[in-house]
Amino acid sequence: VPRALSVFLIAALFAAATAPAQTLDAPYVPTPHNVVDAMLELAKVGPRDFVVDLGSGDGRIVIAAAKRYGARGFGVDLDAGLVHTARREARRQGVADRVEFHARNLFITDISQATVLTTYLYPRINLQLRPRIFAELAPGTRVVSHEFDFGTWPPDAKITVPVPDKPYGPPRSDVLLWIVPANAAGRWQWELPSPDGPIVYEARFRQTFQMLKGEVRAGGRQVRVETARLSGASIALVLLEDRAVGTVRHELTGTIEGDSLRGTARTAGASINWRAQRVARGEIDIEAAAAGPAPAAHP
Ligand SMILES: C[S@@+](CC[C@H](N)C(=O)[O-])C[C@H]1O[C@@H](n2cnc3c(N)ncnc32)[C@H](O)[C@@H]1O
Repeated sequence: VPRALSVFLIAALFAAATAPAQTLDAPYVPTPHNVVDAMLELAKVGPRDFVVDLGSGDGRIVIAAAKRYGARGFGVDLDAGLVHTARREARRQGVADRVEFHARNLFITDISQATVLTTYLYPRINLQLRPRIFAELAPGTRVVSHEFDFGTWPPDAKITVPVPDKPYGPPRSDVLLWIVPANAAGRWQWELPSPDGPIVYEARFRQTFQMLKGEVRAGGRQVRVETARLSGASIALVLLEDRAVGTVRHELTGTIEGDSLRGTARTAGASINWRAQRVARGEIDIEAAAAGPAPAAHP
């Protein structure tokens, strides 16, 4: 062996032996195949999706997304042996052109490409990921977790799947889905026609995760907000406005893009374009405590 090479080999061996071992933040427990199927179905994975699995193990989630639904994606895992297995399995299953696996720490992985993010990690890890999900993922991105929640962020859907030979706990697994919401917080303005001429509406939305609370005024007068719902970038409002002729019901649906909102306003059976503009931007509250029972009154 040439001297330069042997020096290099010895140095490499020494580096490997003395490098701090990267400790796993969660042990390797593969998601059973029927739970993988349930995760991908709940997220409605399709050929246009890019699936990112954080802590990808043998790669089964990303591989199934590619094989069954034509998606693309990647997985990362700290365990290089598992990454090797995942790559080999992707080749064997004929999806190596659509998926990649990297030996990488999930905490330094760029997740911004994901349209579907999957996890089977401890709640503590999910909680650390939560601010990044809101900061880095586009509205409408689906987050699917096997078993564990994201703290006080309520899931948009949850199903339970039987797992007869589960290695821990009861013989079933929860599958939870969250849809990353757009930021709708702040003050919005728009105009709608009325028999007496256009009326200016102003809404003030407070947003906790995907939950909206709104106050709306029409021409300066309070309007009742019957529904204020947000799913990804889609917003739906039902407003009840008292006018001289009686109560008028508005059904507003639209899509948020930055500080503008476009959609449809239905009033008394007639549909027109709805265009709103944000005049003051607010923040999404992503640190909120779980909504629990109201605190008991002091005696
Ligand atoms: C419960 S297993 C889930 C495997 C796969 N996602 C599945 O559902 O079948 C968790 C995986 O996360 C990996 N892991 C733990 N800490 C990690 C970290 N900081 N960065 C990347 N991978 C990690 C483990 O090696 C393990 O393969």
